[in-house]
Amino acid sequence: MDHPVPVISATGLFTPPESITNEELVASFNAFVADENARHAEPIAAGTREALQPSSVEFIEKASGIKARHVMCKAPLLDPAIMAPRWRERGNDELSLMAEIGVAAAEQALDRAGRRAADVDAVLCAASNMERPYPAMAIEIQQALGIDGFAFDMNVACSSATFGIQTAADYIRAGNARSVLVVSPEITSGHLNWRDRDSHFIFGDVATAVLVEAADMAPAGHWEILGTRLKTVFSNNIRNNFGFLNRAHPDSAGAADKLFVQEGRKVFKEVVPMVAALILEEAERLAIDPQSLRRLWLHQANAGMNRLIAQRVLGHEANEDESPTVLDTYGNTSSAGSIIAFHLHSADLAAGDTGLICSFGAGYSVGSVFVRKAG
Ligand code: COA
Repeated sequence: MDHPVPVISATGLFTPPESITNEELVASFNAFVADENARHAEPIAAGTREALQPSSVEFIEKASGIKARHVMCKAPLLDPAIMAPRWRERGNDELSLMAEIGVAAAEQALDRAGRRAADVDAVLCAASNMERPYPAMAIEIQQALGIDGFAFDMNVACSSATFGIQTAADYIRAGNARSVLVVSPEITSGHLNWRDRDSHFIFGDVATAVLVEAADMAPAGHWEILGTRLKTVFSNNIRNNFGFLNRAHPDSAGAADKLFVQEGRKVFKEVVPMVAALILEEAERLAIDPQSLRRLWLHQANAGMNRLIAQRVLGHEANEDESPTVLDTYGNTSSAGSIIAFHLHSADLAAGDTGLICSFGAGYSVGSVFVRKAG
């Protein structure tokens, strides 16, 4: 018996209305630095404490390519006395924040596919952090959308969405589901250390959704999934120690390691070759000439990393048309980044065009999804 062929029927995107520019971010950070240094003027003058260094707009843009990021809750993030999100705790009878933005993205994907929620079989909430351990965020999203079937959460940090797409595709191939929503609500502002000069500029909030379905039910203009490949290699170079076995509130002193921490340089050096090698091996397995790829929708963490990866894959420096950037206005949105790029920059491709969605990040983890636009 032939296995059903999985395709991407549609995608959805929720963008928070509020956004923070580098100028606003740096002004707030530097006000915090000035306050801290004034508060500790004596030990700093005595040489027993190091003064904090200011951040700079020029550095951020040059080192990362990020110019702004969307956030769910701007004012407290920019208040030098808080520099963390503050939201009203919702009751158990209210839709959770992650579910709310996940539902918004999912509804758009369903709408674009012309799909009724009743025809979806499963929901995967694939994101870097969950708002709570259980009941699963995915089950709440399933319930809010009115989907009969099953749902569960999965976390592979920045690669959560591509790992979710492969999982969904495998359910379809195996006949366990015919229509699967992969929802990635990424509220990264909650696990970013807004007081850390090395990383305070990195992340932004967003939610994406990808509807993976059996080809025979998919709408016209869907994307065939030609192949998916996943890889993980353990590394401490991107780490977040927050968890249910430690009680320290992430805002408390000394709790910086309960938020996002990374060795950015090492990540850059180690992940670029790993990603390029996986893409080239997978292209060979699928008999795709990598230089013929019409577009790369790469993970959005660092513009320089994407330049290098695209160059190794395409054999020449990629232009914006070949490797579009959303990092400049969205920042790093963890697993959602490559999906935003695909969502915003795929409508102009023609039937038969082949492209690649690729994520990479903490774990380390890499996920590739080769796709071809159907007629
Ligand atoms: N403002 C001004 N200067 C800053 C700064 C800031 N906000 N943060 C760091 N600097 C300084 C450093 O102190 C350092 O100064 P020095 O040379 O005098 O020591 C210099 O800038 C370079 O710092 P470095 O951390 O080496 O910068 P970088 O060029 O590696 O860029 C990242 C930092 C994080 C943007 C970059 O390494 C990166 O994006 N790496 C990949 C990360 C990634 O993909 N992570 C996945 C996350 S999911």
